[in-house]
Amino acid sequence: MKAIIVKEPGGAEQLALAEVPDPDFGDNDVLLEVRAVGVNRADILQRKGMYPPPEGASDLLGLEVAGVVERVGPKCRRWKTGDRVFAVIPGGGYAQKAVFHESLGMPIPETLDFAQAAAVGEVFLTACQALFWLGEVKEKENVLIHAGASGVGTAAIQLAGKYGCRVLVTAGTEEKVAACRELGADVGIVYRKEDFKDRVFKETDGRGADMILDFIGASYLEKNLHCLAVDGRLVILALMGGSRAKDVNLGMLLLKRLRIIGSTLRSRSLDYRARLAEEFVQRWLPKFCTGDLKPIIDRVLPWGEAAAAHRHLEENRNIGKIVLTLE
Ligand SMILES: NC(=O)c1ccc[n+]([C@@H]2O[C@H](COP(=O)([O-])OP(=O)(O)OC[C@H]3O[C@@H](n4cnc5c(N)ncnc54)[C@H](OP(=O)(O)O)[C@@H]3O)[C@@H](O)[C@H]2O)c1
Repeated sequence: MKAIIVKEPGGAEQLALAEVPDPDFGDNDVLLEVRAVGVNRADILQRKGMYPPPEGASDLLGLEVAGVVERVGPKCRRWKTGDRVFAVIPGGGYAQKAVFHESLGMPIPETLDFAQAAAVGEVFLTACQALFWLGEVKEKENVLIHAGASGVGTAAIQLAGKYGCRVLVTAGTEEKVAACRELGADVGIVYRKEDFKDRVFKETDGRGADMILDFIGASYLEKNLHCLAVDGRLVILALMGGSRAKDVNLGMLLLKRLRIIGSTLRSRSLDYRARLAEEFVQRWLPKFCTGDLKPIIDRVLPWGEAAAAHRHLEENRNIGKIVLTLE
């Protein structure tokens, strides 16, 4: 089959189409003819040689795919040849064929095409896990979502809003904040123009945010702890602003009974990822049929333009997802 490989760890110019062996295929696995694959920051880290795939996973890039089932293993019960399926997988999506355990598959709603389905999996499952499982949000709570216009951010705004939370977001530009507001964010903060901590206190009458969804890490830690409410939860999913925090006053952790929770979805067990996918299918996927939830897509490119897709993401220019389609 054809796949996009990384010739040498490095820049986007290292991506190239090449002939590679078809993936191995187990009894409970689905072999998917990939029609579209979502692009993620993790792909960029992996391309640079900074994020090796977990043990047993394909070493090809690509964490989320949508396509048509080509074959199923003899013990696979959930899917049959021809089904339209999307899935979040530990690797191997940048290829004509991808393999995943049947429990990770999710049916593509009739209202979504392959590119749209490929834009749902990673960001909505991540946002679900962060908001409901890790952050334990409750209705009417104030939720602060950093990088609101990011893929995960645009999913989290929608989910938190539909759940009945009050949603505050930060983003780098007015254009990004406006996009977040259109998705239902109640308060938008351009972090380059004003201190998000002061604004969060102002907008919550001095109470602070009950939960923060953070991808920035070190450079935001002190401010995040400051603007959490009593019993607040800080869920950290990425460290785009660094991993080493200096001079952080941990007194706030004790005084306000705060919790800091970190996670990566990719490193979770198969059982955990399958339960997350199942809950998402039951609870949230029907809302993609009614239009209450929608994939937010910045652009769809043919997979020959994978390098351009990576560059666009690396330059922080996207609002929502970038998707590659296979011809
Ligand atoms: N742990 C997990 O399980 C998990 C799962 C999925 C994704 N992730 C990670 O979560 C992060 C978000 O993913 P995504 O795909 O949604 O991202 P994305 O669409 O690529 O958007 C990221 C945005 O973050 C903002 N940003 C970048 N560097 C920043 C900095 N130093 N300070 C403040 N803002 C910064 C930029 O927007 P502005 O213009 O607004 O600054 C950028 O567009 C990525 O790092 C990804 O790897 C983690």
